[in-house]
Amino acid sequence: MSIEIPEGLTELLQSFTVEVLRNQPGDLLEFALQYFTRLKENESRGGAFGNEHNSAARAGKAVNFIEEAMQIDSENGEDEDDEEEFVAPVINRFVRRASVCAEAYNPDEDEEEREPRVTHPKTDEQRQRLQEACKDILLFKNLDQEQMSQVLDAIFEKVVVTGEHIIDQDDDGDNFYVIERGTFDIMLKADGTTRTVGSYDNRGSFGELALMYNTPRAATIIATSPGALWCLDRLTFRRILLKNNAKKRKMYEAFIGTLPLLTSLEVSERMKVVDVLSTKVYNSGEQIIAQGDLADCFYIVESGHVKITMKRSKSKNDTEDEEVEIATCSRGQYFGELALVTNKPRAASAYAMDNVKCLVMDVQAFERLLGPCMDIMKRNIANYEEQLITLFKSHIAIEEPNA
Ligand code: CMP
Ligand code: CMP
Repeated sequence: MSIEIPEGLTELLQSFTVEVLRNQPGDLLEFALQYFTRLKENESRGGAFGNEHNSAARAGKAVNFIEEAMQIDSENGEDEDDEEEFVAPVINRFVRRASVCAEAYNPDEDEEEREPRVTHPKTDEQRQRLQEACKDILLFKNLDQEQMSQVLDAIFEKVVVTGEHIIDQDDDGDNFYVIERGTFDIMLKADGTTRTVGSYDNRGSFGELALMYNTPRAATIIATSPGALWCLDRLTFRRILLKNNAKKRKMYEAFIGTLPLLTSLEVSERMKVVDVLSTKVYNSGEQIIAQGDLADCFYIVESGHVKITMKRSKSKNDTEDEEVEIATCSRGQYFGELALVTNKPRAASAYAMDNVKCLVMDVQAFERLLGPCMDIMKRNIANYEEQLITLFKSHIAIEEPNA
């Protein structure tokens, strides 16, 4: 007796299996229940698989949580090729990693994603100033040309006066801000007192946290001089930047998990680190950090080798300095933390020894996110002095016969 396999059964089970393998749910039964319920809901909506013929084959797609997130973009007229790469964070309470991603981007909740694109016309002069202000904004670094031009179209200018509250802690997030000019204080209130924890001086950006994680504003930002800001509305920010962050999480989750520096961070905290990282590439010989400069970034080497050098006078009578190599950093190692921790200028220079790719984090994110890693950093900083004494002793020993 032959048993007939119903049409679509194989595809249905295959799609389900793929989703299970992708999401690794802790509770398989609950996951299955949710998967098939959503499948049924999609069927009733007639959306994803209205075609009865081979409905099961397409059913898997209908509840592929990842592709569902992508649908939003295709409705926005996004490039199909781009969708191939985009994996939205999986939002599902039965998924093991839910706590990691749930804060970031839930396309299901983002009905407003379907809103039309925002354009604020600008003069050539404004556009030029805007491009200059955005050039070093880390959050924009990984955007492709099309995404960047959408950001530039949507941004609008706002003039501010001294004392103006740009953001108030605990408010809802409306805009992300890029500084065109002016100084701003960062204030945090805790336990009934408010204190200034930092400031921005004519460059940088703020206001991304509430938009990224759908949380109340985490700090108050007050203008301490007359100035101007470029404002990017919440919807455009989320549509473009979060899509990009989803890609970044996918790319860097594993690498970030291997970094000894970040072992004291929870998995969800590590993902927040990924969200604020951008990548910078350097050609062989290029200077990454100059000794004596003011510091605003922290670096983790993703690939290649970085040489750390320090200036020292050639000899007692010589006023000219020579640069001595003091360390090399390779994949997974970090540098540029010392100036941020000590609030002093860069203690050494850094150069790419070959083609180098670094993950870069700005000082505000460094202070906000890497507090728990401070013990490890301080331990390494304590070794720097020893390293220098040993190194310079050996230099002195080499020089002495000719002195
Ligand atoms: P958001 O929470 O949207 O609004 C306040 C902004 O202040 C926040 O995003 C960050 O961009 C910025 N900020 C700078 N330093 C801090 C800090 N130490 N804690 C919280 N927010 C900070
Ligand atoms: P920073 O001072 O911010 O910039 C230069 C970086 O070189 C420094 O942080 C450290 O990360 C790194 N470095 C490595 N070895 C040393 C050392 N012996 N002394 C100072 N900085 C060092």
